Amino acid sequence: ETTLRAAAAKAGLFFGTASSPNRLYPILSQEFGQLTPENDMKPDRIATSSGGLQNTSGADQLVNHAQSNGMVVRGHTLVWHSQAGALQGASQSTLNTFIGNAINRWGSKIAYWDVVNESLEDNNTGRRRNQWPHTMNRDANGDGDFFDAGDTDVIRDSFIRAKQVVQAGGYSTKLCINDYDVEGLTVKGGGPNRKANALYDIVRTYRQYIDCVGFQSHFNDNPNSIISNDLQANIQRFADLGVEVHLSEVDIDDDLSNNDIGAGQADNYRKVVRACLNVAKCTGITVWGISDSESWRSSERGLLFTGGNGNYQKKAAYYAVLDEL
Ligand code: XIL
Repeated sequence: ETTLRAAAAKAGLFFGTASSPNRLYPILSQEFGQLTPENDMKPDRIATSSGGLQNTSGADQLVNHAQSNGMVVRGHTLVWHSQAGALQGASQSTLNTFIGNAINRWGSKIAYWDVVNESLEDNNTGRRRNQWPHTMNRDANGDGDFFDAGDTDVIRDSFIRAKQVVQAGGYSTKLCINDYDVEGLTVKGGGPNRKANALYDIVRTYRQYIDCVGFQSHFNDNPNSIISNDLQANIQRFADLGVEVHLSEVDIDDDLSNNDIGAGQADNYRKVVRACLNVAKCTGITVWGISDSESWRSSERGLLFTGGNGNYQKKAAYYAVLDEL
């Protein structure tokens, strides 16, 4: 095959990218079979303080573009402490209103929605974040989890609501939980990845409402799963719970001087793609942008193309991915 999109389709998964309405160049739908709005579906763009919708034109444009080009859409994202905009500090009931409005606006045009994004703390504590909306969690009996009767859990409640909306609408939309630093079973230097384990417990507990898990896969200065080769095993254990797994925001730092990411970017991309291909329920890979210069972390040169404004050149990493697919 001569494009990532075609090669991935043949291999039975999607290969996509994040993009924005000002970057709907031909290469987008030629090379990529899936689209995630990089910013246009975030609450700070589309949510009002009462959970209504506003400013959906960018999101609409992306969904329409995807539809007319046969691309799968991952909606991103409903409940998140960052870029929360008018929803910052909102109650669960307002979040539920927003969840309903957003899911209903696009229905089955959105194949996957990130319902909850980045709900776990940094530094491998295995705890929930304490920033809103996670401060709404209440551990009634103090046993350290949010899974008991009497506990309130923004993750559980948001998924219950989302599932209810999807079922009422008869949509085919699947509901995902998404996070970073959850890619490996172990962390750099050894020891368990408690953040990944916490995510695993959440998915295991609520799997009746959760259809898919996104490992963001921003592999930068603290690479663990690539070096330790345990990405595949971690994907596998989530798959064994019955959920689909996506590598949902991939970029891989090519700067070997400030980290120990190992063999070089193209080989690291190969390893990441291979880990997904080796697990049947790893159903998609999304890179977080097309070109290094238009990336949120452009200095890391973590993507598959260079260049700008639609004039993109393929990097070694591109050819490695195409070959591996
Ligand atoms: C980033 C976008 O790429 C930037 O353009 C924006 O300024 C900030 O957000 N995890 C996520 C994504 O889930 O939504 C973030 O996207 C990158 C980290």
